[in-house]
Amino acid sequence: MPDAITTLKDDHQRVEKLFKEYEDTTDRAIKTRQRLVDEITELLSVHAEIEELVLYPAARALSDDADATALERLEEHHLVKVVLAELQKLDPEDERFHPKVQVLIENVRHHVEEEETELFPELRAAFGRNDMKELGEAMEKARSWVPTRPHPGAPDEPPANAVLGLVTGLVDRVRSRVGV
Ligand SMILES: [Fe+2]
Repeated sequence: MPDAITTLKDDHQRVEKLFKEYEDTTDRAIKTRQRLVDEITELLSVHAEIEELVLYPAARALSDDADATALERLEEHHLVKVVLAELQKLDPEDERFHPKVQVLIENVRHHVEEEETELFPELRAAFGRNDMKELGEAMEKARSWVPTRPHPGAPDEPPANAVLGLVTGLVDRVRSRVGV
């Protein structure tokens, strides 16, 4: 079982591949654009949900810095979900469709960059190998039941008791290690 960050980086690579495929399409490739946006929507919806359920709560418990970074990433997720939800209602031939996808791609690339250069290294430094595996397992479990469509109006922070159920042992261990 790969650790949490390896799995998330794999998702990032998969979505980047879809972005490049989309960018290679022309205005005539309406069906291909729609298919790619459907695939991007599913991948990003699931990816955002599992981060919000497991990774961000763990980061928020870690330090003030990680808390602030996770909260900023959470807002980026929210904006991405809003755009994805709008795209679901748009015809790919609509003049707003393609520019919306381009802005989505820019936003997600920025988000991925921030996660990979800030949040992930901080988590990697704080959590040991076993903790990372535990986080990874909790995320993979969540992957099978989280929604595959964007729900920007739904809560994006799990209730405290749900977080406790998923990663409580890990958060406790980290807290005692950093002396919180
Ligand atoms: Fe994310």
